[in-house]
Amino acid sequence: MFDIQEIRSQFSILDQKVNGKPLVYLDNAATSQKPDSVLTTWERYYKEINANVHRGIHTLSQLATEEMELSRRKIQKFINAKHDFEVIFTKGTTEGLNLISYILTQKLKKDDEIIISYLEHHSNIVPWQLLCERTGAKLKVIPIDEQGILQLDVFDSFLSEKTKVVSVNHVSNALGIVNPIEEIIAKTRKNTDAYIVIDGAQSAPHFVIDVQKMDCDFYVFSGHKMYAPMGTGILYGKQHILEGLPPFHGGGEMIATCSFDGTTYAGLPFKYEAGTPNVGGNIALGAAVDFILRVGQENIQKHENALLEYAQRKLLELDGIKIYGEKANRTGVVSFNLEGVGIASDVGMILDKLGIAVRTGHHCTQPIMDFFNIAGTVRASFAVYNEFHEIDLLVEGVKKAQKMLS
Ligand SMILES: Cc1ncc(COP(=O)(O)O)c(C=O)c1O
Repeated sequence: MFDIQEIRSQFSILDQKVNGKPLVYLDNAATSQKPDSVLTTWERYYKEINANVHRGIHTLSQLATEEMELSRRKIQKFINAKHDFEVIFTKGTTEGLNLISYILTQKLKKDDEIIISYLEHHSNIVPWQLLCERTGAKLKVIPIDEQGILQLDVFDSFLSEKTKVVSVNHVSNALGIVNPIEEIIAKTRKNTDAYIVIDGAQSAPHFVIDVQKMDCDFYVFSGHKMYAPMGTGILYGKQHILEGLPPFHGGGEMIATCSFDGTTYAGLPFKYEAGTPNVGGNIALGAAVDFILRVGQENIQKHENALLEYAQRKLLELDGIKIYGEKANRTGVVSFNLEGVGIASDVGMILDKLGIAVRTGHHCTQPIMDFFNIAGTVRASFAVYNEFHEIDLLVEGVKKAQKMLS
């Protein structure tokens, strides 16, 4: 049974006024709110366990280790990784993508090619540009059409023996477009030996993820967009690939032996987890996975898709609304502008006065904004706790903004 009021009651933060109005939180693609079960798990760690992991003989250290490793196994199941040691704790998608692009440095040489898409977040662009600077490799970018849909015939023409990395997002954060990653992965496998990287920042919160079925080499996501604390994230990598690549950060935890004559590295996952991890956050990420599974991923997806369909329909009933990617296959996000009226941030400020939190601007995807020749959009993004009447409030707010700004 999907009971929205019961779900909302688990998110104390939603029960407040902002600028004198009940909060309508529609900025979930930036970060989601956290249910009480996640917050109490985090608090309980600091109140009752707080100790460093993997090193201590004492009881609290062992408890902390057990809980963090239990969380790793929950995440392993959540994404259907073959082994728990293929699940690396990071501080988010950005760190995961930087890690991958760094450890691949030795594998690329001048004139090799890295394929990304126009729909990428800056964190799936800049690390690859840096890798190109280090190696002389070249970046190729899959273009989009007027609906924001990737032009796969151009992608086909990019694939060659020079292709060493294909890195694309599963869902675009700016437009909510669901990319055909199954097709992209199949084509890449058929035609190249490239490493396949999937940015799952906007898909892990919404979809059932099966990295084995997907057959990607790496899949990265952020905990804070899926009901877990900030500063948490996951990098999944296939065992044989991670084992064959060098470490990222050096330090404690990631060594097998260390001397001035040289250092040998720990096995997975510790080779990629140098230093003290975010133990409380990582344990709370496991609680977020529990929350998602309790609600049910199918229920979440169904509810969010219904919200999206409703929001799009209601917004389009107004005159002068331009929705980007209107006809594309999307999830969880509606990105729009009021035609000929003001700029996105003006609309966002008016909505804020009404207690409605949306994101405005380029959403860390400047190339998409350049493509549409705009500075930014107003983005409303949904989570499991959003209600249809909140969409009505959004649409009322947009109407008001239209009046005030014209
Ligand atoms: C598609 C996508 N990739 C990467 C990121 C970066 O995530 P983080 O800031 O959590 O590292 C985001 C964040 O909005 C995103 O939406």
